[in-house]
Amino acid sequence: MRVLITGIAGSLGSNIAERLLARGDEVLGIDNFSTGSADAVPERAGLKFIQGTIADRDSVKTQFDTFRPDLVVHSAASYKDPDDWQEDIATNVQGTANLVHAALATSVKRFVNFQTALCYGKPLEKPVSLSHPLMPFTSYGISKTAGELYLMASGLNYVSLRMASVYGPRHYVGPIPTFYKRLKAGQKCFVTDTRRDYVAMPDFLDLFDRVADDRAPTGVYHLSTGADVSIKEIFDAVAANLNIKLDAPVEVRPSDPDDVASILLDPSKTKSDFGWQPKTSFDDGLRDLIRWYDDHGVEQTFSHLRGQR
Ligand SMILES: NC(=O)c1ccc[n+]([C@@H]2O[C@H](COP(=O)([O-])OP(=O)(O)OC[C@H]3O[C@@H](n4cnc5c(N)ncnc54)[C@H](O)[C@@H]3O)[C@@H](O)[C@H]2O)c1
Repeated sequence: MRVLITGIAGSLGSNIAERLLARGDEVLGIDNFSTGSADAVPERAGLKFIQGTIADRDSVKTQFDTFRPDLVVHSAASYKDPDDWQEDIATNVQGTANLVHAALATSVKRFVNFQTALCYGKPLEKPVSLSHPLMPFTSYGISKTAGELYLMASGLNYVSLRMASVYGPRHYVGPIPTFYKRLKAGQKCFVTDTRRDYVAMPDFLDLFDRVADDRAPTGVYHLSTGADVSIKEIFDAVAANLNIKLDAPVEVRPSDPDDVASILLDPSKTKSDFGWQPKTSFDDGLRDLIRWYDDHGVEQTFSHLRGQR
């Protein structure tokens, strides 16, 4: 298959690229290195890489016209500066619209999109059903939601996964890499009184294989284990994995106004339509990730939250 992956230098894009290249697919990757890095782009036969932005409509059109992908995996996103609305709009709205138009013009067979659960804003229910209203209130959530709505209106054969947090190699966003980096450096940490659901990379990749099939069901689905953990539990687990014993429990702070107390998505339709079942426990997944960080380090971490940048 010929697969075009946006955001290939990021965590999900690079893990998917490795998987597809290993099975013999031809991959064209696009990334502007805004949160990804060059060393994440797999150096393998079968991969062509373009350093550039999906916000450039002419460049996107040229890449599609030349490469003629069967499958598009849209993993690029802008989120690192909550006040840079222009960049979020350029990447998440204009960039997504550019890809959708180019995919329509070149008869792409399947378009896989990754959506943030922040499309639900501060959810009114737990777990969140697929019929929950879209109520994003941050620049990242608003712009990603607009991009998803354009995709849904396009008539393309698509799946958009509204996702819990995915953790695994090159995961540099949010609490896990932040706690690892700070604890290793002997720096003080705090946690917020919030909860999140974490899906391990092997389980995410297992679902990816199923949704990338152009004969599989289409539409919007949830990626979630169906259970969540508190940020304090995550902190304690990272500290335990590093064999760090603290003199006092970590400070718990109330969450910031741009944060969400809990987003737990209902994965039941994903399980029934795709025959998918997450298999990795949080303890096992976290242990593997800490080992990965030990081998590769954590240089920079990112957050869409003002209070944690
Ligand atoms: N990982 C998660 O927990 C999670 C949860 C929900 C949604 N998502 C979505 O999954 C996708 C992948 O997330 P990730 O965790 O791999 O993030 P990431 O930051 O590791 O990867 C995103 C990649 O997109 C690139 N990029 C940003 N703007 C670009 C542009 N204009 N043109 C080309 N490339 C650009 C970045 O440089 C980066 O390499 C994103 O769409 C994100 O919104 C991820």
